[in-house]
Amino acid sequence: MKLAILGGGGFRVPLVHGALLTGRDVTELVLHDVDAGRLAAIERVLAEQAAGADDAPRVRTTTDLATALSDVDFVFSAIRVGGLRGRQLDEQVASAEGVLGQETAGAGGIAYGLRTVPVAVRLARTIGELAPRAWVINFTNPAGMVTEAMAAHLGGRVIGICDSPVGLCRRVALALGVDPATAWFDYAGLNHLGWLRAVRVGGEDVLPRLLADTAAVESFEEGKLFGADWLRALGALPNEYLHYYYFAREAAGSESRGALLLQQQRRFYEEPSLASWERTRLEREATYMAETREGERDDLEGGGYEKVALALMRALSGGERTTLILNVRNGSALPGLPSDAVVEVPCVVDANGARPVAAATLPDHALGLVTAVKAVERATIEAATTGSRAAALRAFALHPLVGSVPVARRLLERYLAAHPELSYLA
Ligand code: G6P
Ligand code: MN
Repeated sequence: MKLAILGGGGFRVPLVHGALLTGRDVTELVLHDVDAGRLAAIERVLAEQAAGADDAPRVRTTTDLATALSDVDFVFSAIRVGGLRGRQLDEQVASAEGVLGQETAGAGGIAYGLRTVPVAVRLARTIGELAPRAWVINFTNPAGMVTEAMAAHLGGRVIGICDSPVGLCRRVALALGVDPATAWFDYAGLNHLGWLRAVRVGGEDVLPRLLADTAAVESFEEGKLFGADWLRALGALPNEYLHYYYFAREAAGSESRGALLLQQQRRFYEEPSLASWERTRLEREATYMAETREGERDDLEGGGYEKVALALMRALSGGERTTLILNVRNGSALPGLPSDAVVEVPCVVDANGARPVAAATLPDHALGLVTAVKAVERATIEAATTGSRAAALRAFALHPLVGSVPVARRLLERYLAAHPELSYLA
């Protein structure tokens, strides 16, 4: 099998390569990037990482998209338009207006979407032409929005992934002492905006049992983040990103993750080697959102982007049918959302693709939030695909974490001034 990674010079590519070394699924790995220097850095790390491994995939790098896509079976799209510098600017502009500038949520997510969707759509079109039978696994954030924009060209051939739902489910299973393989996790919503509403074991929902036990709830990341009293009041376990909504005042204007990562990774790209990659990776984990997140993310069994991607790739290439929480077009799975809206729900995956499993309607408070944020995502996609400045303003102004038309106007102005990629809106 041939796999192409778009954004192949990205810092996380060695994690994917490391996961590939544990199987024999991929024989040829092509890294594509617009930046030849970053490609060379990652190529070096992969060569060191593969040393001594049997059956390591053959690795090639290219800055030519057509070369990367020729005869490809799988495409991982993991680009970061504007790089970490762009992420830093997204944070700074929002911060200056006292609103959230996070990578995927609030004003920062809109700015990142406006920069990314035009590029993702161009990629989707090219993949549709040059590799129409390839499966496209989208890692690129904001993942729900980007997957939806790509799906207009690729339909069910593009599937968006995130490690946070599976991470939440694993942590909950561990706190409950249940084997995740035997449980059904009733998780539903949008990417970075979902809720675990029930955990069925032997047909019985065991989540109330967990919520009643303060010590057990507060033994894991989301429980600590939200507090057992709030989770009991809510009656569900939210994705960690809902912290930005439920603690909106506390979170706004405080992001500086992009700046930190930029500083850490700069050193690696200046002096690339497996050792310096490993050092930087550990540094990054150590600083993982000190306030809101904790610990090592890659310790999740079955979690971690690369593991989700590998499980998905195996099922799509004809391995055992499996269930994964993925970003796909809704169809009629989640009541109250349009059929072509990309949602994040459990899907049955096999060689025919990922089919979302019918879910119960979200409770009013969740459906309201999901509907509002989906409208913002769609306004962002509209702006990005038509160049409509009005649609971009609508996206900022209607976001529940912005909450002010004057602020939205200024955000739009300032993002346009900060990012050359947004000149299409000027
Ligand atoms: C989690 C999320 C990703 C996000 C990442 C940010 O894994 O699911 O969507 O990109 O965190 O990590 P970073 O180290 O870049 O802040
Ligand atoms: Mn994610």
